Amino acid sequence: MNEPISANPTLDALLEQARQAAERSYSPYSGFRVGAALKLTNGEIVTGTNVENISYGLTICAERSALARAVSQFGPEFRIEAAAVANLNNAASPPCGACRQVLAEFILPEAPVIFHAVDGVRTMTFGELLPLAFGMKLK
Ligand code: THU
Repeated sequence: MNEPISANPTLDALLEQARQAAERSYSPYSGFRVGAALKLTNGEIVTGTNVENISYGLTICAERSALARAVSQFGPEFRIEAAAVANLNNAASPPCGACRQVLAEFILPEAPVIFHAVDGVRTMTFGELLPLAFGMKLK
């Protein structure tokens, strides 16, 4: 039950927070429940979940939901130093392309991102997930 899933207890805990956020998902159209947890450089952890809409394209992904919440709560003077994405569907859920671009605005390139992949839980740096990001200005 609580066995380590990565070699890093901090990331394991972040993934668990993402999983708990996924339990609050509003996803009546896809049934795909996603949660994200962002560890900020101000020491805070902020979570988000996907919020779907009957006009499907208006759906907000878990990662963007978490990021909007972080800025709303703390203002823009933080960076994301680690991120986790989990789903309750026993499926792969790496951050989608749109979310990678949005995260790029605030995340450190060396930040680890932990997520469910087809072959189990994986951790990659953000720079590996989105190399050559448009507008990447953070170091
Ligand atoms: N979804 C996320 O929350 N994050 C992603 O990175 C990819 C997809 C959500 C959107 C939609 O509610 C559901 O997963 C199925 O695509």
